[in-house]
Amino acid sequence: MGKLAALLFCSLALTTIFSFCILYSPNPLKKFTKRDPDHHHQKHNFIKPDPKEKENCDLFKGHWVGEVGGSSGYTNFSCGTIPRSKNCFRNGREDTEFLNWRWKPEKCDLPRFNGKSFLRILRGKNLAFIGDSVARNHLDSLLCLLSQEEIPIDAYKDPEDRQHIWYFANHDFTLTILWSKFLVHGNEKMINGSSSGIFDLHIDKVDDKWARYLPIIDYAIISNAHWFFRPIYLHKNANLIGCVYCNDPNVTKFDVIEAIGMSFRSAFEYISQCTKCNNLVTLLRTFSPSHFENGSWNTGGSCNKTSPYNDLDHVESYEWELRSTQVKEIERVRRLLLLKGNYNKKQLGKKFGVLDVTRAMLMRADGHPGAYSGNKWMKGYNDCVHWCLPGPIDLWNDFLMAILTDWSYLIL
Ligand SMILES: *[C@@H]1O[C@H](CO)[C@@H](O)[C@H](O)[C@H]1NC(C)=O
Ligand SMILES: *[C@@H]1O[C@H](CO)[C@@H](O)[C@H](O)[C@H]1NC(C)=O
Ligand SMILES: *[C@@H]1O[C@H](CO)[C@@H](O)[C@H](O)[C@H]1NC(C)=O
Ligand SMILES: *[C@@H]1O[C@H](CO)[C@@H](O)[C@H](O)[C@H]1NC(C)=O
Ligand SMILES: *[C@@H]1O[C@H](CO)[C@@H](O)[C@H](O)[C@H]1NC(C)=O
Repeated sequence: MGKLAALLFCSLALTTIFSFCILYSPNPLKKFTKRDPDHHHQKHNFIKPDPKEKENCDLFKGHWVGEVGGSSGYTNFSCGTIPRSKNCFRNGREDTEFLNWRWKPEKCDLPRFNGKSFLRILRGKNLAFIGDSVARNHLDSLLCLLSQEEIPIDAYKDPEDRQHIWYFANHDFTLTILWSKFLVHGNEKMINGSSSGIFDLHIDKVDDKWARYLPIIDYAIISNAHWFFRPIYLHKNANLIGCVYCNDPNVTKFDVIEAIGMSFRSAFEYISQCTKCNNLVTLLRTFSPSHFENGSWNTGGSCNKTSPYNDLDHVESYEWELRSTQVKEIERVRRLLLLKGNYNKKQLGKKFGVLDVTRAMLMRADGHPGAYSGNKWMKGYNDCVHWCLPGPIDLWNDFLMAILTDWSYLIL
């Protein structure tokens, strides 16, 4: 309870003003040549399968197979906390086939999420999601899965519901969302007194909205990407170093992926250097792709598929490159810690891992609310960014459970 009290206290002291801004990536991505991300993967068929199957098993590489109910151990009746905008059936979605798929890793089986074991493993711990509304989407899936085991106390929520804490009293488990659009410090430019949609990012300063809480967090699940698809000015040491989606002739142009890489680098470096977070486990939740077709979010793009793609023919290499940049940054910080010599396998300490959802979700254009987000504000717009609950996003908690039950999935 001490941690919870501290977190509550800090939360109440925090005043943040959030502009209402809906998270949609305009997806102005150039269409790159299509390429299978596995293209360079060599198949060594001549090697006999290792008896220690797990060591060969890449949980994140596989395909979707038909299975009634998929990974969603709940319905819109048994879970009372599904946000209206993700409650696709309530908003009129009628097709249900998208629920009946389960992820099958190539070389092993992915165990099903088990709320009892999950809460047992995390007894006394504080798990925090750090990121944007897709991080919240993930958390909402976890809440539904856990609510089948224990209904938590709604312990704290700020007026914007950007920071929210739940407490599972029977298991002394605390679940937190710490909202951060960019992971680093970002401000929206005001032009003539109104919001401009243009942001200034200070890539050498992590966002205090999450950083200040790190010492009381045991598990941090870090994600982000969608907010970077807009005009952004990048600052370092108080100097303007470049911009994304801008036309200033004298400012160095950066690609969105480069900006995302810089922000994750800052975040992971901060974590690796945090002296009060010695037992922190940090998981990178990789890029969650959107699936707008025939337009972007604000030009009539939609997503009305009703079953998954069964291959990755449609995959944009750009999205895979984004994911790989995020992974590269967490691997980089791990290498730095190794070089510093303060890493010892047997010793407790900071750990890093990857919750690599990108490949699986690239195939799930059918899992978004699309026209069924029930959001009056968004009439005429389709939500092809977030995921229906229940829905394929529930897989992310199967992955989380697998990582928590088996440290060998952590890279440090
Ligand atoms: C659940 O979904 C059904 C449609 O499948 C809908 O009629 C009902 O209102 C939903 N219930 C809740 C509690 O959201
Ligand atoms: C701001 O307001 C001034 C004066 O009303 C106007 O000339 C200028 O174009 C405005 N700037 C922008 C970016 O809208
Ligand atoms: C760009 O740089 C040139 C040379 O330093 C300068 O003359 C020009 O005014 C600058 N343009 C802008 C838009 O700042
Ligand atoms: C996009 O347009 C193509 C051709 O006009 C059509 O076949 C397809 O169904 C459309 N996709 C969606 C999601 O509406
Ligand atoms: C998909 O949805 C869009 C927008 O709601 C609609 O115009 C289009 O006809 C739909 N396409 C299919 C194939 O149903």
